[in-house]
Parts: sequence; structure tokens; C-alpha cells
Amino acid sequence: MSSTSKPRVLVTRAIFPAVLAHLSAHCEVESNQDDTLWVPAELASRLQGKAGVLTTSSEAISADLLRQCPDLRVVANMAVGYNNFDLPAMTAAGVQGTNTPDVLTESTADFGFALLMATARRITESEHFLRAGQWSRWRYDLFAGAEVHGSTLGIIGMGRIGQGIARRAHFGFGMRVVYHNRSRLDDRTEADLGATYLSKEDLLKTADHVLLVVPYSAASHHTIGAPELALMKPTATLVNIARGGVVDDAALADALRERRIAAAGLDVFEGEPAVHPGLLQVPNVVLTPHIASATITTRTAMAQLAVDNLIGYLVHGQALTPVNTLPAASKDKVSH
Ligand code: GLV
Repeated sequence: MSSTSKPRVLVTRAIFPAVLAHLSAHCEVESNQDDTLWVPAELASRLQGKAGVLTTSSEAISADLLRQCPDLRVVANMAVGYNNFDLPAMTAAGVQGTNTPDVLTESTADFGFALLMATARRITESEHFLRAGQWSRWRYDLFAGAEVHGSTLGIIGMGRIGQGIARRAHFGFGMRVVYHNRSRLDDRTEADLGATYLSKEDLLKTADHVLLVVPYSAASHHTIGAPELALMKPTATLVNIARGGVVDDAALADALRERRIAAAGLDVFEGEPAVHPGLLQVPNVVLTPHIASATITTRTAMAQLAVDNLIGYLVHGQALTPVNTLPAASKDKVSH
């Protein structure tokens, strides 16, 4: 293939230079290594004449954007979640969407567990205390938190990452694992993970720690709001590594302030990068900026898979990890 016939693609944010170089070997690339944040109009303008785009979960692929970008054929999200896609509109426009499953499962499960530990054992709160020179105020119950080993972990969303967390809890920490999911796991998988299926209500009443790892959709919007928080034990903790919007952050801030639950650990937020001011004001919450998959190895693998999806679709006619099925006629429109 001559360089002039390479498909034209856009990469919306900075990525690892070696991965960008790999993409450039197969496509004519406009990149953004300065990592400038583009408003939707700028994204639409840069997408003119592009057949593919590598996005992160902060760029919305809306019906309106698709109408403005008739040449677009494939959107490769560098994330396993793709709630930034208007998937029906993409399918109707003949645009292939892809995500990055599997490569991030274990590191994200590690992080879920790290956030659970930090939340239960009050690690960031105690570090702030130490940095503020308060150590001389030590007393017998200073930062006494909740037990993790041997306690009951409730996982809402038992996909690949949820199962990774269940394994860590069951085998590493001797926890009792209960879970709620759209569909029940088969008996064998439940037995392997030592996990028991419960209704959401029973899980919330039973669990010492509730961990959310459910994909965001209209159905999962505010999976945890005021009524659900009211069912939880006052000693319980809540960890959200799923998506902003799965939790009603305003209701959670109220519950934390009034100590109706003990603590929360949040990696994702409604309207991020904005954070509900009520969450910033309470001490009993651990806050991280959406970094659950952030190890060098995993982020490199995610970028590589996103790039391989672009090359796969635009050069070889087949994406590796598609999230929508296009009618055959749409695929014929792939331009080289
Ligand atoms: C991160 O949130 C992802 O969906 O990969």
C-alpha cells in the first residue's frame, strides 16, 4: 500500500509514542501529543476526512457528531466502557465501535481492591492527619476502620473485573462474597469464586463492603441512590470503580456527611472531571481521578489494542474487539 493510500485517522489525546508510531506505519495520523482538550466543535472539525478515530471515554460520539463526519468508519475507544458512544446512532451510520476488554481486567481488579482497602482502613484520611502534624494526638481508636479479611463483600456487576475482585476477596482475604448481576453466573463459576447470588436489596443489607463494577447505561443510572444507601449498614463502605452516574453522588455526599454509611472510595464521578462539592468536604471518602486501569503495562496494552482495532478495521476489514454489529453493506463502505 503506498503512503498516499493509507487511511486517515485522528488520535484525540496523547498516547504512548511507540504505539503511535505503530499506527503511523499503517495510517496517516493526526495526533494530539500536546494533549490539548478539544471542545466537540473542534473534534468535529478535526474529524473531517478521517476514516477512523482513537478516543478516550471523555469524548462523546453523538448522533450530531456523526452527522457532521460522514467519512468516519470506525471509533476505537481506549477503554472497556463505551457509554460515551451513541451506539444505535453509530450502527445506523455504519460506524464500527470498538473497546479494550480483557487487557485491563486484572489491573482494574487490583485497583478495586486497593480502593476497598484504602477506604476500609482510612488510609488517605490518616495520611492527611500525619501531614498536618497531628500525630501527637494519637489515641487507642485513631483511624480505627472496618475489617476487610473475613468480612462480607457485595459486588454489583459480576463481569470479568467483578470476578477478578471476587477471586482476590475469596482466595486472598477469606471474605464471604455475595454478588448481584443482570444475569446469574453458572453454578460452577459461582462455586469456583465462592460467590453467592443475592437480590440487590439483600446484598445491600448484608455486605460490609459494597463494590460497584457495573457498566453504565440507562438501566444502571443511580444503581445506588438515597433509598439504596438507606439499606446499607451504618458501618459499611461503598466503592465505585464503575462509572460516574452509577451512584447518585449528591445522595452519597449526604450519607457520608451524616455518617449513615462509614466511608466511600470513588474513582469515577457524575460529570467528571468535576467532583460534587459535598464529596470534597467530607473526610470519610477516598477520591481518585479515574485511574483504575492506570499501570504502564495495562495502559500500553489498551492503547495497542485500540490501535490494532483501527488498523484491523481500516486496513484488514475486521476489528478485533467490536462492540456493535454492522450490516454487511456498511462494511463494504470501508475506504482505503
Ligand atoms: C475505564 O474506565 C474503562 O472503561 O476502561
